[in-house]
Amino acid sequence: MIRTFRTDDWDSYRMDYRRPHRALEPQEKEIEVVGDALQALQEAGVLPHMRYDEARFLAHRQAVAELFDIPWTAITPRMQRLLYAVNAIVQPRNMIAAGVFCGNTFISNAGAGVGPGACYTADALIGVEIVEREAERAERNVRRIDPTGVARVLAADAVEVAAEFAEPLQLLYLDADGTDERGKGIYLDILNACYDRIPPGGVVLAHNSVNCAARLKSYLEFVRDGSHLRSSVNVIFDCEGLECSVK
Ligand SMILES: C[S@@+](CC[C@H](N)C(=O)[O-])C[C@H]1O[C@@H](n2cnc3c(N)ncnc32)[C@H](O)[C@@H]1O
Repeated sequence: MIRTFRTDDWDSYRMDYRRPHRALEPQEKEIEVVGDALQALQEAGVLPHMRYDEARFLAHRQAVAELFDIPWTAITPRMQRLLYAVNAIVQPRNMIAAGVFCGNTFISNAGAGVGPGACYTADALIGVEIVEREAERAERNVRRIDPTGVARVLAADAVEVAAEFAEPLQLLYLDADGTDERGKGIYLDILNACYDRIPPGGVVLAHNSVNCAARLKSYLEFVRDGSHLRSSVNVIFDCEGLECSVK
């Protein structure tokens, strides 16, 4: 079954990829939209609850705006808030984020575990980026927020890192765009590489569920057919979208 959470304005809510910190709407509206999305995820059983700390989130957002070098990003303010909230709610001890580019998505996924937005203690929050110079920039960015090394970026192929990760993986975030032929189709390879280490209740997030839906066809069929992942919701509140699934 295809479950969808969709706002009326998803197609008109647009960011300038080179101005990631510019507000696109009043903060109350952003809180409301993301709250509605979290409620849909809770009702579908993807998340156990929908509570996260607003002050910690804002501290996280401010630190990223001040300390990160971001040449561009497609992570809208709504998406940044949702990713942070999912991290705060799931509180994964271990997380892999695949295809992190400059690290902006990764730190949204890890921001409730490290830095000024932290609300729990994690073991290993790993971002993976295959382009070495981008991985180095992402690692530099992350170190400015998390001196501890709990959150770190590896220059590697996410399929290999996912296959070799030996511990239970409570959160997997997919954003790698693979090679020319496979493109975002690589999401399914990454998920399959670590599927057996995702425990019940583990959450899998896939960015670009809207604008790359055709390339993600096999992936979306896999997470939505009910036999591999217990529940899955397509969150559509911007032009990119996020498929949120739970094992
Ligand atoms: C489109 S970017 C993600 C950007 C992110 N959505 C944002 O808005 O900030 C995808 C990244 O995945 C990386 N990538 C592609 N294939 C990969 C793989 N097999 N393992 C790890 N990273 C990969 C690319 O180098 C690229 O930096």
